[in-house]
Amino acid sequence: MAVLPIATVGDPVLRRRAREVGVDELRTPRVQRLIDDMIDTMRHAGGAGLAANQVGELLRIAVVEVTADNPRYPYKPPIPLTVIVNPAIETLGDETAEINEGCLSVPDLRGTVERHVTVRVRRLDRDGRPCEDIRRGLTAGTFQHEVDHLDGVLFLDRVRDPTTFTTWAQFDRHHREAFVARARALVERVGS
Ligand code: NI
Repeated sequence: MAVLPIATVGDPVLRRRAREVGVDELRTPRVQRLIDDMIDTMRHAGGAGLAANQVGELLRIAVVEVTADNPRYPYKPPIPLTVIVNPAIETLGDETAEINEGCLSVPDLRGTVERHVTVRVRRLDRDGRPCEDIRRGLTAGTFQHEVDHLDGVLFLDRVRDPTTFTTWAQFDRHHREAFVARARALVERVGS
């Protein structure tokens, strides 16, 4: 297990589409070690998720986990550790919500993006078993953010109003209170 360096915006690896992983390849020690290292790296950085592109590997693998004491996103509902392989996201319903996001590959910047409120995520787990989850609210946003990475898309691309860009310190100072109130209302209404 190891903490890997995280690619930052401008690195071309973040702009490339990651490729599907075969089940035999997924089960190799190399890919299993990569998954363990991605989990370590996400936890070490205090992230809510991490995609393989962010550690320089163009494989369709991402990890997501939010614990109650997540340092970057204390308002997010908990998400148990989830390994996402070859995901397909289907939106359920038309509802969207404006969610303020950050990214480990975009240091010290946050911005507001529109995400689908309810999604179905079909994926393989780390052993290659097919799984299906329905995710809502902020959690749905987290899954959409990670799958975007696998397609070479950053949250920056989805910010419609550039005046929502803030540093983390300015977010805390001027915008956190209003966003957290909206986020809590969303989670209360739709769950996670
Ligand atoms: Ni990200």
